[in-house]
Amino acid sequence: TNPAIIDCDPGHDDALALLLAVADPRLDLLGVTTVAGNQTLDKTTANAQKILALAGASDIPVAAGCERPLVGDLTVADDIHGESGLDGPDLDGPVAGTVGVHAVELMRRLVAGSPEPVTLIATGPLTNVALFLRLHTEAARNVRRVVFMGGSTERGNTTPYGEFNIVTDPEAADIVLRSGLPLTMIGLNVTHRALATTRVINEFRGLDTRVGTVCAELMTFFADAYRRNFGFEHPPVHDPVAVACVLDPSVVRTVAAPVVVELGGTYTRGATVADLHHRSGRPDNCEVAVALDVDAFWRLLIGAVHDLGIP
Ligand code: BDR
Ligand code: CA
Repeated sequence: TNPAIIDCDPGHDDALALLLAVADPRLDLLGVTTVAGNQTLDKTTANAQKILALAGASDIPVAAGCERPLVGDLTVADDIHGESGLDGPDLDGPVAGTVGVHAVELMRRLVAGSPEPVTLIATGPLTNVALFLRLHTEAARNVRRVVFMGGSTERGNTTPYGEFNIVTDPEAADIVLRSGLPLTMIGLNVTHRALATTRVINEFRGLDTRVGTVCAELMTFFADAYRRNFGFEHPPVHDPVAVACVLDPSVVRTVAAPVVVELGGTYTRGATVADLHHRSGRPDNCEVAVALDVDAFWRLLIGAVHDLGIP
């Protein structure tokens, strides 16, 4: 088994990350924790519960975490994910409750209680993960690694050099990057290759299952939002790349490098600075994703959604 916890802010692409993690037997999803990011905490939590219900996985414990970044105010991404954080499909229906403890406490319990080291997969701002690492140093010893979607070796998407998850909580990212744990950064430089093309959306719809249809509707909304906001022809489906890389390391190529986050900066607060040429003399602290096997990625994700459709 490969025990993992997903900390997320669903979010269209977070939703697909959850579906992939639930469906693929190579991962043992111990729990899901939520954070404010794409939308407010109440909405990202409700969305996580709806997606787990859709996947028939309401038995997986869900805990809500931080409702704002460590420093500063929350700015949600309603321009990309809509009012609900998951606009597009109709996801109403019964959902299981949350476990009633804070996300950081659920992380502690699950990580401390696991016979095998646990992988933390973060697909939102790193607020919960940072607090967990700071508060529960003993339990954190049983973290195998942290794989996070965030940052970029190139341009950003929220500011010219800042990516949304890191810009939303740069101090949290700084804590994680300085944690000394094995880290993998899945940045925009690779996730911008994971495009939900018309062919991909048609494949989801063609599965002719409820989960497949929801995925097609999610990606249709996401595509419109990316067209409106960025002028992109197809939307990048960031977060499932982090899950895919845990399921099958051959999908993502990484290189070790020193990575820091800009906490000041007149124009660049929240930018990740990855020294791929090792000019700084700083020690490597992160495996940085630099290439994606796009076909393998979509095969994994579409295959997972297909499997969830089998009763
Ligand atoms: C990240 O920001 C969010 O909007 C997405 O869910 C993803 O985690 C991409 O920058
Ligand atoms: Ca996300």
